[in-house]
Amino acid sequence: METNTKELPKVKGHWLFQNSMEIKENILGFVQKYRPQYGNYFRADTIAQDICFITDPDGVKHVLQENNRNYTKSFGYEILKMFLGEGLLTSEGDFWRKQRRLAQPAFHKERLAKITKEMAASAEQMSENWEKLSENGKAVNVLHQMNEITLDIVAKSLFGADVGANLEDIRNAITITNEYAMKRIVQLVRLPLWIPTPAIRKYNKAARKLNDIIFGIIEKRRKNQAEHPDLLSMLMAAVDEETNEGMDDQQLRDEAMTIFIAGHETTAIALFWIWYLLAKHPEVEKKLHEELSAVLGDQQPSYEHIPRLKYTRQVIDESMRLYPPAWMVGRRPIKDDVIGGYQVPKGINVLMCTFDIHRHPDYWENPEEFNPERFSEENVKKIKKYAYFPFGGGPRLCIGNNFALMEAQIIVATLAQKFKLKLASEKHPEMEPLITLRPKGEIEMVIEKR
Ligand code: HEM
Repeated sequence: METNTKELPKVKGHWLFQNSMEIKENILGFVQKYRPQYGNYFRADTIAQDICFITDPDGVKHVLQENNRNYTKSFGYEILKMFLGEGLLTSEGDFWRKQRRLAQPAFHKERLAKITKEMAASAEQMSENWEKLSENGKAVNVLHQMNEITLDIVAKSLFGADVGANLEDIRNAITITNEYAMKRIVQLVRLPLWIPTPAIRKYNKAARKLNDIIFGIIEKRRKNQAEHPDLLSMLMAAVDEETNEGMDDQQLRDEAMTIFIAGHETTAIALFWIWYLLAKHPEVEKKLHEELSAVLGDQQPSYEHIPRLKYTRQVIDESMRLYPPAWMVGRRPIKDDVIGGYQVPKGINVLMCTFDIHRHPDYWENPEEFNPERFSEENVKKIKKYAYFPFGGGPRLCIGNNFALMEAQIIVATLAQKFKLKLASEKHPEMEPLITLRPKGEIEMVIEKR
C-alpha cells in the first residue's frame, strides 16, 4: 500500500454477524443511513462478503474508467449469472471484449435510426390502447403498461420476435427472478439451486419459462432463413477469428437472455418514474406539453425529431437522477488499490451507489427537488463527471444507453402528446431496490385525454 493512505472507516456491527442483518434488511437504506456519518468511503462486512461503499464521483471514475483493468464485477453479478450465464453484463476479460465487439454494430447510429421506426409503431399502438382505457376511466398499472411496450420494442427490433402472447408469463418470471436474485445476494446462507425449497422451486420454474421463450426465439430464427439485419442475426452469424466457429447454443442463449432482460426492464422502470414525476409536477408537465406542440404539432415523433425534443430529454435525465433504474454498480479489485486516499484491499466488493450519488448534497443543489433545468444545455456542463451515471461508465458503459434514451423520448413524446396520467391515490409510491429500482406494490394511475 502507498504511504499517506488511510484505512477505510468501518461501520460498527454485531460481534458475529457484523453488518449482515442491516444490509440484508435494506442495503440502500444502509448507505443512506451511514454515508452522512462515515463519509464517501466506508467499509461494511457481512458473513459472506466484505463491502467498500463509495459515494464519491472521483472514486467512481477511478474504478469504472481510469483503473478499470484492475477490476472485475462484484459478487452480485455472480448471482446474476444463474440466469444470465456468460452474457455481456456478467462476462469478463478478453471473452467479454470479443462479445461486445460482436454485439456493438446492432447499436450503431444507422441501426438505431431504423429502430426508432419500430419504437414509434409500438408507441402508436399503445396510444390507441390508451384511447380506449381513457374512455372507461379505470386506473391501470403503469409499470405493467411500460413493461409491455419496452418488451415489445426489444423483442421486435433486436430479435425479430413478437412476444405479445407471452407477455404475462414473461412479466411474472422476470419479477420472480429479480426478487430472488436480490434476496440471494444479501442472504447469509445460499443453498444450491437443486435443493427444492419453495423459493428455489419458484425461481427455477420462472427461469425455465424464460429459457423456453429465448430458445423458442432462437429456434424459430434458425428455421426461418429470411434476412433480419438485427442483433440476433449478428450474434448467430458471428464466427470466431481463431477457431472459425460460431457461438454455441448456450452462449447465444446467454447473450440473448441478457439483452432481452437488460434491454427492457430498466427502461420500463425509468418510464414508470417519469410518469409518476410528471403527475406530481404539473409545471414540468406543462412545459413538456408546450415543447411537444411546438416541435411535433400533430405529427408522430420520428428519428429526426429526437434532437429537437430537448426538454423531453431533460425530463428523462432528471427522472433517472432521482430514480436511477440501475441504482448500484459493483466491482472487485484484482490487486490492492487506493481510491480517494483509502486503502481498498483486493477482492472486496466496491459498491458505487448511483442512487445516493445522484442525491448527494455535495454535488447537487436541492438534491431532492425534481428540476429538469439541471440538464439544460447550459447547466449540464456544470455537473461533475460521474455525479450522474445512470448507465455506468468506462468500457462497460451500458451498450443500450442511446437505444434506451431514444426509446424513452419516443414513448414519452407519443403518449404525452395525447394523454396525461393522474395518480389513482395520493400515496407516494415506495421504492423497492431489487436488482432494479422498482416501485413497491401495484401503483395505479388514471389515463386522461388532454
Ligand atoms: C434506462 C435504461 C437503462 C439503464 C438505466 C441501464 C443501465 C445500465 C448500467 C448501469 C450498466 C452498467 C453495469 C455495470 O457497469 O456493471 C448497463 C450495462 C448493460 N446494459 Fe443497460 N441500461 C438501460 C437500458 C439498456 C438497454 C435498452 C439495453 C439493450 C437493448 C441494455 C443492455 C445492457 C448490456 C448488455 C449491458 C452490459 C454491457 C457490457 O458490460 O458490455 N441496457 N446498463
